[in-house]
Amino acid sequence: MEGANFFDKFANAEFALDFDSVLLRPGKAVIEPKDVDTTTNFSKSIKLSIPFVSSPMDSVTESRMAIAMARRGGIGVIHRNCTREEELDMVNAVKRAESFIIRDVITINSNANITDVLSIMKRHNISGLPVVENGKLIGIVTNRDVRDEDPSKKVNEVMTKDVITANESITEDEAVSIMRKNKIEKLPVVDKDNNFKGLITYKDVKVKGKYKNALRDDDGRLLVAAAISPFDIERAKMLSKVADQLLIDVAHFHNTNVINATKKIIDEIGKPVIIGNLGTKEGVLDSISILDDGVAGLRMGLGSGSICITSDVTRAGSPTLYAVSQAADALKELGAKIPIIADGGMKNAGDAALAIAFGADAAMFGYVFAACDESPTPLLELNGKYYKKHRGMGSKAARERGAISDRYADSGGKKIAEGIEILVPYKGRLDDIIDELTGELRAAMGYAGKRTIEEMKSAEILRINQRPRKVE
Ligand code: XMP
Repeated sequence: MEGANFFDKFANAEFALDFDSVLLRPGKAVIEPKDVDTTTNFSKSIKLSIPFVSSPMDSVTESRMAIAMARRGGIGVIHRNCTREEELDMVNAVKRAESFIIRDVITINSNANITDVLSIMKRHNISGLPVVENGKLIGIVTNRDVRDEDPSKKVNEVMTKDVITANESITEDEAVSIMRKNKIEKLPVVDKDNNFKGLITYKDVKVKGKYKNALRDDDGRLLVAAAISPFDIERAKMLSKVADQLLIDVAHFHNTNVINATKKIIDEIGKPVIIGNLGTKEGVLDSISILDDGVAGLRMGLGSGSICITSDVTRAGSPTLYAVSQAADALKELGAKIPIIADGGMKNAGDAALAIAFGADAAMFGYVFAACDESPTPLLELNGKYYKKHRGMGSKAARERGAISDRYADSGGKKIAEGIEILVPYKGRLDDIIDELTGELRAAMGYAGKRTIEEMKSAEILRINQRPRKVE
């Protein structure tokens, strides 16, 4: 642009549409909304039953949210505003949540005391521990055994020694019937020499049957993604062993240091990662030119989240629909197929439907999911109304928690806040919100006349000056 006159800057400026400037153009419906197929891709290796993802934010996704999301066929991305160990604990909690035979079981030694038992149970939110010595099962200790006991007593004084066990070939129905008959909640699995092999819990088996579209790995464990920093290779190594997908979580991925550091991470862990956030076609092309097959997905949108003030304080940004269309154009140019995740500013599944029409495969929500029971923040009452807190990861409060600072580039001076804290009206259980979102998406696809997410990408849009007038 050197030497260009300034009027050309206006004349050549691209028009960045966002949610309030467009509508889906209705198309001929060939099937009813209830028959729409909502399956899609989150990353190169993960398929979703519904195109919804919860944001890696500390007011949105910890293990409880990720469990609830995966049960419904979406996915949660655990936030990284915590220590590596805390993030790993959260990912492990999802993986342990409802496998049939849990393999990574937390066990205890018979010499430990009740204080140890209670602290382990509290930390991992579990109600019983198999007692294992030299690999062999010698007892089980549950909440009931310890709650009224002297805390200094040893495990071997209170544990149940005569444990009912199963072997690895047991089926789910057999396990349920043994647990019912014996009125027990936990069934340890052992081999013929009594070596401890795993644990079956009544709750897991029952819940598992309830969610038909849940996302599971080959061992029946729920799928979960985890956010990482490009500059924390240790965290990447730890999490890559358990999380099903890693996602590089920075505010501006199109940065030489970030791309080079991500390359090192991909080489180290030997698995592709989702990259973002990105806002432009050049950002996508530059990243892919260096990271190549290491890119598992693209997280698109910059500064348009409900709690973002990036585009206020820096006047830079890439509205979500524009960012998605930039990624779609880049992939078209490359002839590549990489899932695109629209991120930021979506208030309902109509917004997600628009993002899909611009080329997205999935929609990431912060605001919408922060409002439900499963988000990590406490329920607040104000003048008879209920709220939950939602905050930007670039907000002063989130940064004070410590681990997220490198999400934002170092501007050399005082750290500027790029996010705020807000209260969102409480909306109840995630299950109900997902039902609502799925209903809206099906209806939107019905209006557009599209049967699948792939078909939906060809939906036509209308440009509008403002949303249709509503009766107040
Ligand atoms: P919603 O609108 O769903 O957006 O709440 C969630 C997304 O917002 C991004 N995010 C931020 N952007 N400053 C920003 O400019 C921030 O402090 C901030 N925190 C989160 C992020 O992409 C998230 O998924």
